[in-house]
Amino acid sequence: MVVVKTKREIELMREACRISAAALKLAGEAVRPGVTTGEIDKIAYDYIISQGAQPNFLHYNGYPATACISINDEVIHGIPSRDRVIREGDLVSIDLGAKKDGYNGDNAATFAAGAISDEAKRLNDTTRESLYEGIKAAVVGGRIGDIGAAVQEYCEARGYSVVREFTGHGVGTALHEDPAVPNYGTRGRGVRLVPGMTIAIEPMINLGRAGVKTLSDGWTVKTMDGKLSAHWEHTIVITNDGPQILTVV
Ligand code: MF3
Ligand code: CO
Repeated sequence: MVVVKTKREIELMREACRISAAALKLAGEAVRPGVTTGEIDKIAYDYIISQGAQPNFLHYNGYPATACISINDEVIHGIPSRDRVIREGDLVSIDLGAKKDGYNGDNAATFAAGAISDEAKRLNDTTRESLYEGIKAAVVGGRIGDIGAAVQEYCEARGYSVVREFTGHGVGTALHEDPAVPNYGTRGRGVRLVPGMTIAIEPMINLGRAGVKTLSDGWTVKTMDGKLSAHWEHTIVITNDGPQILTVV
């Protein structure tokens, strides 16, 4: 069931999303060679708590941390650890969210540790740009398939592939609500987009083939072929004046 939010609910979403975006910004600024993913996770945790909010990934289906930090061929859900040191040239995806006053924010971005390869930079730029293509397609009167088609076409035209096993989603009082928001699809298909829908759009884009596998830790998702992956995400609200990004500082 898709929950359409009232004006008041959207104001509460806005604050949860602001905290989520500020935590992501702080976490991203901490990415550099020599830092551990555990240290970055703590930066995000401390900030979210300082805002009177809760890290909404922590304990979600048993997830053990504030952030998911996924490096290079890790696609999503990498578990931060004091033993995981970021190296020069790593492509570091950070995904995190905050819950405040009963409402959730959710966002992700991919950061470079020091100097990264041209191939990594192009993948990351394309993934970020594809998120904005998806957001542009999130207009009243459109459908969920319009968003996925926009992301998919943008990435595939540049030789990249779209992960199928995981999708974006509605966001609200629950971190994951209906509808699912795939990063692939057909224009004119799927749930109709109406004002007050709050959704997370989150392309996960691979340099090589689309296939992914989950590791034995039960969480970390990696590319099958060992090639790089990038991930960007915003929570947005659909309005009569067009899509508005909520996860901004
Ligand atoms: N990364 C997921 C999303 O953006 C949420 C994380 S699930 C968790 O929708 F269990 F890892 F927290
Ligand atoms: Co999400």
